[in-house]
Amino acid sequence: MSSLYIHVPFCRRKCLYCDFFSVEAGDEQLQAYPALLADHLRWSASSGFLHGPLNTIFFGGGTPSLLSPTAVGEILAAADKAFGVSADAEISLEANPGSLTANKLRDYRRAGITRLSLGVQSLSAPALLTLGRLHGPGEARQAVESAHAAGFKSLSLDLIFALPGQTPACLEGEIDAFLALAPDHLSCYGLTVEENTPFSLLQSRGALTLPDEDTYVAAFNLLHARLQDAGFEHYEISNYARPGHACRHNQVYWQRRTCLGIGAGAHSFHERGWGERWAVPDSLDVYRERLRRGAEPADLVESFVRQSAMAETLYLGLRTRAGVAHTDFSRRFGCRPDEAFPQALKQIRPYLRPASGRLCLGVAGWLLYDHLITSFL
Ligand SMILES: C[S@@+](CC[C@H](N)C(=O)[O-])C[C@H]1O[C@@H](n2cnc3c(N)ncnc32)[C@H](O)[C@@H]1O
Ligand code: SF4
Repeated sequence: MSSLYIHVPFCRRKCLYCDFFSVEAGDEQLQAYPALLADHLRWSASSGFLHGPLNTIFFGGGTPSLLSPTAVGEILAAADKAFGVSADAEISLEANPGSLTANKLRDYRRAGITRLSLGVQSLSAPALLTLGRLHGPGEARQAVESAHAAGFKSLSLDLIFALPGQTPACLEGEIDAFLALAPDHLSCYGLTVEENTPFSLLQSRGALTLPDEDTYVAAFNLLHARLQDAGFEHYEISNYARPGHACRHNQVYWQRRTCLGIGAGAHSFHERGWGERWAVPDSLDVYRERLRRGAEPADLVESFVRQSAMAETLYLGLRTRAGVAHTDFSRRFGCRPDEAFPQALKQIRPYLRPASGRLCLGVAGWLLYDHLITSFL
């Protein structure tokens, strides 16, 4: 199993809540980017970081749908040349509704994209304005319709909940509106106010109030219940899929399997030793310069020791419904989770759901996830 993440660090305009690495790009910067990625792929193929063929590829951002279908096709051809791409590879692309047309979507499909992840966020016009999105509900609906017509194997929609002033009735309406679009997969994120974003400035001035904890819990439980009733499996804290539509690429992260990240701001993980994490700096200039010199584009940011690898295996695995299998953990580390972390296991025990041979958090545990995982650190 081999995986590739491609970071596309460009957006037309930054949304007010987002702290992902992306810059507001012009056409010139966008057109020059695929050649940098092709250089990076050539470099990585000779470094031996990854062995092909690739089973999953993920174009993430930023806004990958600012790249033309031709550019996406060229990048996929370079990835194929560097590592090979499996015939049944899952190839995902994150797309913003405002950057799509029916022809563009058809051409992404022809270029090899199998799975589209659309950043709809909300189908309420005032909420989209609050978030600082460039699109309205009409464009989102149009993009979904065109994506269905283009024949992607899997269509995912992003939804942000716990918005300022969002009542349970508003969220009910939002869920109905999303389900009416017949997605195969939904990623549902509670709004978080990140440092150094316009939202954090507004919050510090008292001009932005997030729902309180009880409202957040009610919203999370409402999503869980409604989407489960509609035939979705809640397979990770933030992710829901119809049968057969769980994102294969993201499972690679939660299972700590090797994934090469290319592009400015991309992160990689390698399984060797107890695991290594690498990151390309959040700077297009540094990225370009390193590639020009033929230097390693990424920096080693963490080399895991046994203890930190065990902790990360548990807290990433506990994000997923499948959890962590005792036998896998023991085979890898030579001890059981409760031998490695007796105190932490005692703390999470009331939140585990019954699952033979596995450690799995139930929904109440997911709601306390950030608090519970501190006991592994
Ligand atoms: C990296 S973004 C890229 C997606 C695409 N550019 C878009 O915005 O449509 C991935 C997703 O993270 C979510 N996200 C980003 N910042 C967030 C925040 N502060 N709170 C909640 N969700 C957030 C949004 O749902 C977004 O679609
Ligand atoms: S949410 Fe998406 S479109 Fe908005 S700034 Fe972040 S990456 Fe760009």
